[in-house]
Amino acid sequence: MSSETPTLGVVGSGTMGSGIAIVGVLAGRRVLLHDGSAPALDAAVERIGRFIEGGVQRNKLTAADAEDARRRIVVSDDLGALDAADLIVETIPEDLAAKQALIETLDEACPTATLIATNTSTLSVTAIAAASDTPSRVVGMHFCNPAPLMKLVEVVEGELTSAKAASDALEWTRNLGKVPVRCRDRPGFILNRVLVPFENDCIRALERGDGTIEEIDLAVREGLRHPMGPFELLDTVGLDVHRDVSNSLFDQLHDERFAPPPLVDRMIEAGHLGRKSGQGFYQYETAGMFGE
Ligand SMILES: NC(=O)c1ccc[n+]([C@@H]2O[C@H](COP(=O)([O-])OP(=O)(O)OC[C@H]3O[C@@H](n4cnc5c(N)ncnc54)[C@H](O)[C@@H]3O)[C@@H](O)[C@H]2O)c1
Repeated sequence: MSSETPTLGVVGSGTMGSGIAIVGVLAGRRVLLHDGSAPALDAAVERIGRFIEGGVQRNKLTAADAEDARRRIVVSDDLGALDAADLIVETIPEDLAAKQALIETLDEACPTATLIATNTSTLSVTAIAAASDTPSRVVGMHFCNPAPLMKLVEVVEGELTSAKAASDALEWTRNLGKVPVRCRDRPGFILNRVLVPFENDCIRALERGDGTIEEIDLAVREGLRHPMGPFELLDTVGLDVHRDVSNSLFDQLHDERFAPPPLVDRMIEAGHLGRKSGQGFYQYETAGMFGE
């Protein structure tokens, strides 16, 4: 890595990008945050500020730490501002063509030594990397939502990823205070490959009337020692995100367990997306993305 306090670049300031920016500043990194949309950047600045302020109120951060953290974030609507980053994590929407176009632009905007990570949940890291003239520097770093709270980062080695890029990504992950798990570039990596069919099974159990939302959550929490029941987790992830991930994995794996059950469509049609809309399987007093 090129400097003593490496700089993290984040492209896309939505749910994941703003969460990863929080992770970066709280780990003492300078963070360069870019989004193609000015309103999305404004919303991210507000969301990040609210999270940091919440940390002060919960006595997890001093006022001085919070001020330092705020100062370490630089937001820009110009992608060129990220040329000083040592690692750039892309968190734009789950669309292969869009991610490939972004990688081509990053090739022009950044030095070839910059490590580039994709936060894709279901796309091929290899296909994303292939858009680069230097595909060996492209790796998967799959943060979980909400990124400030969840420890796991799947570090995904595509077929073209170099050993150095993979080991740099592992080091970055540890230095951000996260727990890296290496995995191969397969649909859903490790986590979503096992989680998505399980969540869909729980939704089908609800549709059949095997139990209520609360009963199924309780059974999973107490019987499997999961910290959250499946419906609490789905509300945190977002029903829309769950449907996209399910459909993408179903398209690649042709296994019915990945197909989202009809209840998911109905909830999305009703605007019941989970925590972010204030209602999902449960109702929430305030809509918020990081459980803040
Ligand atoms: N939301 C989750 O639970 C979750 C969890 C893990 C991984 N992921 C993955 O993270 C990625 C982002 O998901 P999200 O939920 O944060 O999306 P999001 O829709 O909340 O945010 C995407 C942001 O990217 C911006 N954007 C779009 N195209 C751009 C471009 N070309 N250049 C710059 N900015 C651009 C948009 O304005 C938006 O602010 C996806 O690949 C998704 O699969 C999501």
